[in-house]
Amino acid sequence: MTRRLRLGVVGLSRAFTLMLPTLAGHARVQLVACAEPRPEARARFLQDFPGSRAHADMAALCRDEAVEAIYVATPHQFHAADVIAACAAGRHCLVEKPMAVTLAECAAMIEAADRAGVQLVIGHSHGQDGPVLAARRLIAGGAQGRVRLITALTYTDFLCRPRRPEELDTARGGGVVFSQGAHQLDVVRLLGGGLLRSVRAQCFGWDPARPTEGAYTAFLQFEDGAAATLTYSGHGRYDTDELMGWVGELGQPRDPAAYGTARRALAAITDEEAAKARRAYGPETPPLAAPAPPAFHNQFGFLLASCERADLRLTAEGVMVHADDRRWLERAPLPAVPRGEVLDAFCAAVLDGVAPVQSGAWGMATLEACLAILDSARTGRDVTLRHQVAVPG
Ligand SMILES: NC(=O)c1ccc[n+]([C@@H]2O[C@H](COP(=O)([O-])OP(=O)(O)OC[C@H]3O[C@@H](n4cnc5c(N)ncnc54)[C@H](O)[C@@H]3O)[C@@H](O)[C@H]2O)c1
Repeated sequence: MTRRLRLGVVGLSRAFTLMLPTLAGHARVQLVACAEPRPEARARFLQDFPGSRAHADMAALCRDEAVEAIYVATPHQFHAADVIAACAAGRHCLVEKPMAVTLAECAAMIEAADRAGVQLVIGHSHGQDGPVLAARRLIAGGAQGRVRLITALTYTDFLCRPRRPEELDTARGGGVVFSQGAHQLDVVRLLGGGLLRSVRAQCFGWDPARPTEGAYTAFLQFEDGAAATLTYSGHGRYDTDELMGWVGELGQPRDPAAYGTARRALAAITDEEAAKARRAYGPETPPLAAPAPPAFHNQFGFLLASCERADLRLTAEGVMVHADDRRWLERAPLPAVPRGEVLDAFCAAVLDGVAPVQSGAWGMATLEACLAILDSARTGRDVTLRHQVAVPG
């Protein structure tokens, strides 16, 4: 075990709240500073992380000499500027998905990291979930043959959660394609080898109160002849957690009787932006508990990868392998803390020099596929992809 990475975070967001058990409990990370404009969130940070420093803006965080690496958890539209500033200050970066909103931003981020000689990793992404990594290992082992066909279905209540105005405006990175397609495409690209050739898609926005994409379906072709179909809907009705044994996205138990909770809660809200802000980190965040080992993995819905000699189905415990004469569960080792795999990969990149899968080039390729879904839905045509990269190794 090497030393702990001294990490700062910019944006004490909902994403930060979800990563809190990971950041507080991971053996290789020490959270030493934050940057956040909301004073109440900064005060809570100092209380939760005694001895740390809380800055009001990114420039001050970049000047903080205790910080070696920065987790960028601000809204999408700030990712590029935050990463470029961190790199210019010589700090390694872990940036939330989607990497950015345009390919030009991604290219500038990659260039900034390369110029500074620092690591740039995209995460958290469900492409880093233990069962996805286990399926990738099985595929790389070759015993089941090549992946030929992938079917991915994710139904959630994403669109019914409180949102900032830009999250409901596609032109500013809103809608399910940027925020959720980034996860689903990451998983599918990882299992299919990474190199997409083309995308054909249709998007839907059938809720007039949420004027952005609430659902999409896409047909993807890989360079090697494999294909994938992806369906996502965030309308808070059917939920694919049912297909995952009523385990939720964060590996938590879901109550099948609690139908329509997000939809009802949204209907009762008068100030949506304030409700969204309350879901970010602050005085209302539950107290930091001692990190408990998770019972299940994070999951992002139903996924079946059909190989030449077996179908591989992701579960919240690992990979169910459906071969010719039997089926069995390949358990994926549970991380010591929820979402621990994200920081495993980031620390391996920064501290051990292990090239990350979710590099800048990988994140740009995933964003290209998100943008292709939107483009194809608009034009009704196949979109050819030009910035794809293979899974390393
Ligand atoms: N991987 C996941 O599971 C996951 C989950 C949620 C969000 N996300 C991602 O995290 C990012 C943040 O989204 P969110 O919904 O958590 O945001 P949020 O609205 O909950 O929080 C945004 C935070 O950033 C702060 N902020 C705004 N401008 C800032 C600035 N210039 N400098 C510093 N801080 C600033 C706000 O005060 C707020 O605390 C998005 O890119 C989103 O896609 C990822």
